[in-house]
Amino acid sequence: MAFIDNSEIEKIRAKADIATIISSLGVDVIPAGKDYKCVCPFHDDHSPSLNISISKQIFKCFACGAGGNVFNFVSKYENVTFPEAVKIVADKIGYNLSVSNSIKSEDKHKLEHEIFNLACMFYQNNLNTSSGVIAKKYLKERNIDDKIINEFKIGLASDNKNDLFTLLTKKGYKIDLLEDLGLINIINDRAYDFFVGRITFPLDDINGNIVGFSSRIYRGEKDTSKYINTKETPIYIKGNNLFNYSKAKVAAKKEKNLIIVEGQMDAIRVYSSGIENVVALGGTALTQNQIKLIKNLNCKVILCLDADEAGEKATLINGDLLVKENIAVQVIRLSDYKDPDEYIINKGIDAFADNIKNPIDYLEFKIKVEEHNININNTEELATFINKVVIDISKLKDPIQKELTLNKVSSKYNISLDILKNKLENIKVENEVAKEVFSPQIKNNKKLTGLDIAIRKVLYYMMCDNKYIKKYQSKIGFFENKEYRNIANEIVYFQEKHGIISIADFISYITPNQDLYQIVLDIMDANDNDLNELEFDNYVEVINQKSNEIKIKLLKEEIKKELDLNKKKELLEEITKIKRGSVINENN
Ligand code: UTP
Ligand code: MN
Repeated sequence: MAFIDNSEIEKIRAKADIATIISSLGVDVIPAGKDYKCVCPFHDDHSPSLNISISKQIFKCFACGAGGNVFNFVSKYENVTFPEAVKIVADKIGYNLSVSNSIKSEDKHKLEHEIFNLACMFYQNNLNTSSGVIAKKYLKERNIDDKIINEFKIGLASDNKNDLFTLLTKKGYKIDLLEDLGLINIINDRAYDFFVGRITFPLDDINGNIVGFSSRIYRGEKDTSKYINTKETPIYIKGNNLFNYSKAKVAAKKEKNLIIVEGQMDAIRVYSSGIENVVALGGTALTQNQIKLIKNLNCKVILCLDADEAGEKATLINGDLLVKENIAVQVIRLSDYKDPDEYIINKGIDAFADNIKNPIDYLEFKIKVEEHNININNTEELATFINKVVIDISKLKDPIQKELTLNKVSSKYNISLDILKNKLENIKVENEVAKEVFSPQIKNNKKLTGLDIAIRKVLYYMMCDNKYIKKYQSKIGFFENKEYRNIANEIVYFQEKHGIISIADFISYITPNQDLYQIVLDIMDANDNDLNELEFDNYVEVINQKSNEIKIKLLKEEIKKELDLNKKKELLEEITKIKRGSVINENN
């Protein structure tokens, strides 16, 4: 992990206005008084819930609780570590970071990535040799031009059975490792290349490292699979990757939507035609980890699978999986051509883009499909069907969409809206009970006591102004609660080192300590008032009084237990002292 000097982090932060940086990431920031706000990219937000404070240079979403300074925002938004976020911000403001080369978090699989890069270059080169002529012709016939070949690093595994093996072992890579990585097979003590006589497509992990290959026949071979992919290896776990994800993620965040197609050729076509927010399933249903990857993008999904019946089935399976995870799903069903690749080649990218602009909601699609499978004249079948539809409607998050869909169902099947709404209401109650039992709350709404609130106020004042740090030291000096005490100590330490306190820099400093960071965010969340010395003094009093009450209570308990009369007397005196002390304090 790279280390960047705190003073450098602060210099960069001071130069990087938080609203400007957030906006440069493609997020629309809207002026709101002297501050800014935006639609929160960290949860499914519809109204602008995220406030950006210009004076404090921090952000805070009052709906999901995300917050911090400019680096925390970039780190969360780009899914990178804190030092990587510092580097991104430094680049944006043209600041020359002295350790910038070592920022990228350490590559744990450097050797493996090196091997795959070499293999990929080798395959790419094959395509340009005389043995690649037929493959090149095949690609050309499929409208894959040189630009696309280069962009997707398409190559060729030649017909020789151990070209790659020879190359890599000559370079000194261990046979066992090459086998583990799925590049060679050992059969009867002899090594063979895994990919032979096929066009190759490198498979990236989510960070863009090559971790495997897909490969396709190109001479119409009959007795083999059309595609063969790297089998599961320690660094290529199929269910953790989505084809083209590393390329698509930035555009998907920006467009707030991700197009999912079936085949990698489809993804390649859509992407290279200029619509970059596209990934391919690769012929399987989404795994939970793939859904997590999609969730990280905070966008809706448009399923655009093959036009055939299998594509329709796959749309239902994947649509249900996504909806279950609260991802908004829409659907496109192409006609005339079997998949997006052929559709775009024949009708052009503009026609495809028109489809993308007019998807139908997943539920509407689902109802349409399922309706085909029932006999509408059979009331029992129809009732079962409509009950199922209402359950699906209950899962919709957008109340307007709920209402609209309900209306459609009501008029289509001639069922009173009241009955449908009643049914929906019952389901809602059931869902809520289930939710309370099973799902953790987004925000930790632990009830704060009066003392908690007072301490948090004091900490807030301390983070805003040096003066209150001094006052804390002279009038309180110590919090009983460990977390609060640690935060106070950190504030004091930070101020002593820097001379001046700034919330935004303090946040950079506290970020590595996730527990304290979270409390600091909560404190910022609850407090954004102007500072008022009288108010501060009142909180100090509350804290001292409470802490005296606690001390007295503990002493009284001890007195009860104590048998030695002299000791009892001593304890009593201590109580009197505390009581007198607090009276003196009050008169101060
Ligand atoms: P398709 O048969 O729809 O592929 O399979 P495609 O993209 O249209 O392929 P082209 O256009 O004929 O080249 C969809 C996906 O299923 C996986 C591949 O990932 C493919 O992209 N698949 C298909 C396999 O893994 N093996 C196969 O034999 C076939
Ligand atoms: Mn195809």
